[in-house]
Amino acid sequence: MLTKKRKMVVTSALPYANGDIHIGHLVEYVQTDFWVRFQKMRGHECVYVCADDTHGTPVMLRARAEGITPEELIARSYALHTRDFSDFEVHFDNYYSTNSEENRTFSNGIYKAMQKSGAVTTRNLPQLYCEHDAMFLPDRFVKGVCPKCGAEGQYGDSCDVCGQTYAAEELKDARCAICGQPPVTRDSEHLFFELEPFRNYLKTWIPAHTAPDVANKLLEWFNEPLRGWCISRDAPYFGFEIPGHPNKFFYVWVDAPIGYMASLKKWCMDHSESFDTWWQNPEAELYHFIGKDIVRFHCLFWPAMLHTADYKTPSQVFVHGFLTVNGEKMSKSKGTFIKARTYLDYLNPQDLRFYYACKLNGSTDDMDLNLGDFVNRVNSDLVGKITNLASRGAQMLQKSLGGMTGTMDPEGRALCAKAQDWAQSIAAHYEARDFSKVMVEVRDLADQANQYFDSKAPWALVKSDPEAARSVMTSVLNIFRVLAIYMQPVLPSYAAKVARLFNETTYVWSDVKKIIENAPVKPYEYLATRVEQASVDKLIEASRAVEPPAAKPAPAKAPEPVKTAVEPVKEMIDYDTFAKADMRVATVLSAELVEGADKLLKIQLDIGEARPRQVFAGIRKAYDPATLVGRQVVMVANLAPRKMRFGMSEGMILAAGNPDGALFVVSPDAGAVPGATVK
Ligand code: 2FM
Ligand code: ZN
Repeated sequence: MLTKKRKMVVTSALPYANGDIHIGHLVEYVQTDFWVRFQKMRGHECVYVCADDTHGTPVMLRARAEGITPEELIARSYALHTRDFSDFEVHFDNYYSTNSEENRTFSNGIYKAMQKSGAVTTRNLPQLYCEHDAMFLPDRFVKGVCPKCGAEGQYGDSCDVCGQTYAAEELKDARCAICGQPPVTRDSEHLFFELEPFRNYLKTWIPAHTAPDVANKLLEWFNEPLRGWCISRDAPYFGFEIPGHPNKFFYVWVDAPIGYMASLKKWCMDHSESFDTWWQNPEAELYHFIGKDIVRFHCLFWPAMLHTADYKTPSQVFVHGFLTVNGEKMSKSKGTFIKARTYLDYLNPQDLRFYYACKLNGSTDDMDLNLGDFVNRVNSDLVGKITNLASRGAQMLQKSLGGMTGTMDPEGRALCAKAQDWAQSIAAHYEARDFSKVMVEVRDLADQANQYFDSKAPWALVKSDPEAARSVMTSVLNIFRVLAIYMQPVLPSYAAKVARLFNETTYVWSDVKKIIENAPVKPYEYLATRVEQASVDKLIEASRAVEPPAAKPAPAKAPEPVKTAVEPVKEMIDYDTFAKADMRVATVLSAELVEGADKLLKIQLDIGEARPRQVFAGIRKAYDPATLVGRQVVMVANLAPRKMRFGMSEGMILAAGNPDGALFVVSPDAGAVPGATVK
């Protein structure tokens, strides 16, 4: 069946070390895992590598905020990420870290080649600098007054109150977030990787290595001069220092894709293989699975970097869309921002793999996880149609016929042959990453097998003609076994149990051709159980209160630093100053969205006075307004009223802010009445 044994390196995008794995990430890891497992079943040599993306400002800031070193933070993430992946049966041949010596060596080497080719230039950029701390300040190290709405305490990239984005230098009354001193503007020299010299190369490369829709989008950029890419960052920065440029570091997106090479190199060293045989060999193939938000990095900068340094470029970059849940962006307030770990607390990972397989078709379209549909498909298709064949067949055989298969009857044999004949078409769907078509064909065969089973009524036959019943069961089990082999890339532990049932081991694709007759079957192990709607409800509830992990960068943008708790140390105050704040318990009478302000909620509060108080609170991202109504909160009642664009704000609600920006409104225990003073 096999024409030629292929040598393939496959990667998924490297997840940031400052956030948790969530079900959106899993769309990618799970589909790459399907594909790799399929290739391995076909007998190809396939190595799946990945790593944590550890460098950059967000990791540095998060570590600072937690009072730990970046190395401690990334070690913790590594442990969490690898556990999540393994529990979702995503099997990497090597999972590494971009903070490795292999990566430093590759990064320096590629940078030197880029320099040698003349594509690296230097330019001066004005930037805020703190003379007290002697450092250039990244945007999130600067706080001041929003140039648009006048809100105080805003970071140097965007205003939390009015949503305006701006350059840090535009903030009014800007302060260093570490020491509180006003920064000065200084020029800083930065390194740029010029893309214009690669125009012709990329124009040919892109359509040959990406899908037509991806290529067309990228090629739109070629109507104008290609802008150079800033590849340096000033200290402090958690990353690799640039050779010959003390206190300058490679921007995280320089060494992130190089991390693919470093991870492969580590795998090669661990398995006594040569890196060049896998990467540089023209016969070997290289595939990247990525989301559509990071196409620019993988299909412009990355091939240009590799090409300059005489490394082989990817054979193909496979781009997928984003995940929506119930037709919308994942939302914390709706409880649909679901972490991998939270999912595992309530549901079975194989169900999500099965559902994703039913929906993934190799295109860049977004994919929806509709939770109602999820429950239905798992229950009716995986459990009701497919698994039922084995549970009914094997259990009856075990109970009434001594657990021995016989020979298939002609009708069953014909159906089994048909199932076997579909191997080529199913393999073609796998190869094309059209997993949904694989599942359609599997389901179709399961339907036919169920019809056969029901038409033979073996539960009656077992009494009147046990040998005829054995034949029916033998046929059904053989067809089921073929389906399990087809599903092995999607449901590996399920297929392993099926293999045990038939006294076999992990399947290869050609096992489809075998027939099991006149052989004992092992006792049936449970393969899949129904999903209860109640478990899904609990999962949503548990996800509602959990803060979102560090967000993926918005399309075609560099990663955004997480909001940090690097607050200026506040000066000491005496008791009288503290006592001036009149803090009261308040009951939320109403809460509503504010048009034109995507961070604010308009809230009416009962604080035991004749008239409710109106407050605009920047907590919209953390709360669905409906869930606040009736809740008790704490408000500062004597804050001077502030006229905002949307109306008067007559106080402030207290909320706890996590280092990464997650917000939690402060509430008293039950029993406090509106107007009670908070001391
Ligand atoms: O977008 C992200 O989550 C990045 N950490 C992906 C990096 S992929 C590769 F280039 F390293
Ligand atoms: Zn400072």
